[in-house]
Amino acid sequence: LPRVLSGIQPTADSFHLGNYLGALRQWVALQQDHEAFYCVVDLHAITVDWDPETLRRRTLVSAAQLLALGVDPARSTLFVQSHVPEHVQLSWVMESLARFGEASRMTQFKDKSQREGAAGTSVALFTYPVLQAADILLYQADRVPVGEDQRQHLELTRDLATRFNNRFGTSFRLPEAHIVQGTAKILDLQSPDKKMSKSLPPAGCIDLLDDPKVTGKKIRSAVTDTGREVVADPEGKPGVTNLLTIHSALSGRSVGDLEEHFAGRGYGDLKKELAEVVGDFVTPVRGRTQELLDDPAELQRTLAQGAARAREVAGRTVADVYDKVGFLPPT
Ligand code: TYM
Repeated sequence: LPRVLSGIQPTADSFHLGNYLGALRQWVALQQDHEAFYCVVDLHAITVDWDPETLRRRTLVSAAQLLALGVDPARSTLFVQSHVPEHVQLSWVMESLARFGEASRMTQFKDKSQREGAAGTSVALFTYPVLQAADILLYQADRVPVGEDQRQHLELTRDLATRFNNRFGTSFRLPEAHIVQGTAKILDLQSPDKKMSKSLPPAGCIDLLDDPKVTGKKIRSAVTDTGREVVADPEGKPGVTNLLTIHSALSGRSVGDLEEHFAGRGYGDLKKELAEVVGDFVTPVRGRTQELLDDPAELQRTLAQGAARAREVAGRTVADVYDKVGFLPPT
């Protein structure tokens, strides 16, 4: 079976609809016909300021949400990144192959460091994409389901893998980004010129674990565009188009079908119906997440099993790499 790997940061108390439609929905779909490895990337989460207790709680809540959304531990290896020390072991080798120049070109680092000033950001924020490359290459992933914002990191991953293979002999499969058109960049409801994200004010971001009343309010106050017709037009009507995209992804109806459905009706009708569609989706997810969190010991057992399985695969890659780069074996 082809392999798939992806990761998500436990940097919030809830995932948002952009995470789900851009990436997590594909995680669930791909596990049907791939050998899947999915991880909560807590190592990545400490590249910006963090609180230890909050991180621990969010790591568990993240795992619960992934299960609630449909990641099936019988099919997929679900684990926490820090439980698998091979990620750090491979990352160091990759850092030695990565060039300062190419890491400097990563736009996500540029954006994040611009906010605080590069001098004050952690060194780990800078090397973050190299750790991400290690995450992917450890498992020989063929496909990596992510949103549009991760495309550049996938290109870096392929460059590093190619560099290693050319210099030391082939150890890595070249992974492909699995980016689904249409939902790869869900926009913020208040600033539909930006991607939905935790770093913007909460009014524009639909959290999966939000109370549906809050969600409904956020949708009803979403920024729409001039004009009155409910039609998709990414350039002229980014706000309305975003709402149609979300509706279509969750209801399974095509955007064209929805345009017909809303013909002669206004933005208010679209928002009202979308609030229902989103509510119907998130309500059971919230319930299942809560149930899973009621039994943290069971959740941790699932994660421990995942980590053990992940280490089998990751350990083989690290052994091969450490041998090829010339590290003296310990025995
Ligand atoms: P993270 O934790 O920021 O986001 C998780 C996933 O959600 C996608 N995403 C979106 N998709 C569509 N619209 C949006 N508004 C939106 N916001 C977020 C992201 O593209 C991502 O797929 N660096 C990664 C985590 C990572 C990883 C990995 C991913 C670490 N190692 C290995 C894949 C493979 C990140 O910060 O994602």
